[in-house]
Amino acid sequence: MTDKTKIIYVINGPNLNMLGMREPKLYGSETLPEINDKLLTLSKDKQITFCHIQSNHEGILIDFLHDKYTQYISNQNQLIGLIVNLAAYSHTSIALFDTLLLFKQKDIPIYEVHLTDISARETFRQNSFVSNIASEVIMGLGAAGYEKALFKIFSFFDDNSK
Ligand code: DQA
Repeated sequence: MTDKTKIIYVINGPNLNMLGMREPKLYGSETLPEINDKLLTLSKDKQITFCHIQSNHEGILIDFLHDKYTQYISNQNQLIGLIVNLAAYSHTSIALFDTLLLFKQKDIPIYEVHLTDISARETFRQNSFVSNIASEVIMGLGAAGYEKALFKIFSFFDDNSK
């Protein structure tokens, strides 16, 4: 077994920095730092590095992912999964979809999270490009969806490293 740093990235798209203040009846009262803190603690327990980004800018998310992909293919770490909530970019961004295809081609599991059940919301939210390549889409569970995705990545990793 390799002793390279095991790493998980969580990618959050536009307006998710406003969680807690943003339509709390819909998106819940937890803030993004609170959600990330929990994920960090759970990852630490498993000796997995947890790294997150939130941006309101498509290109910043793309550049971040390119950077992390380059690190991965140059063997700098052991990337074990991505958790993505691209928020409104889920429904609009072929550019981010193309970026995620880089990871998909290497069989890195991609878990798509939405706090709300996008299949039961406005028609314009019902299509997500990411869903075409996600290992699983977890939606409608609020902030708990991120934890569920994290546990799925842990078990995928454990199953595949036996
Ligand atoms: C969201 C759903 C999207 O339609 C919306 O644009 C968001 C959040 C969710 O987590 O439920 O910003 O991705």
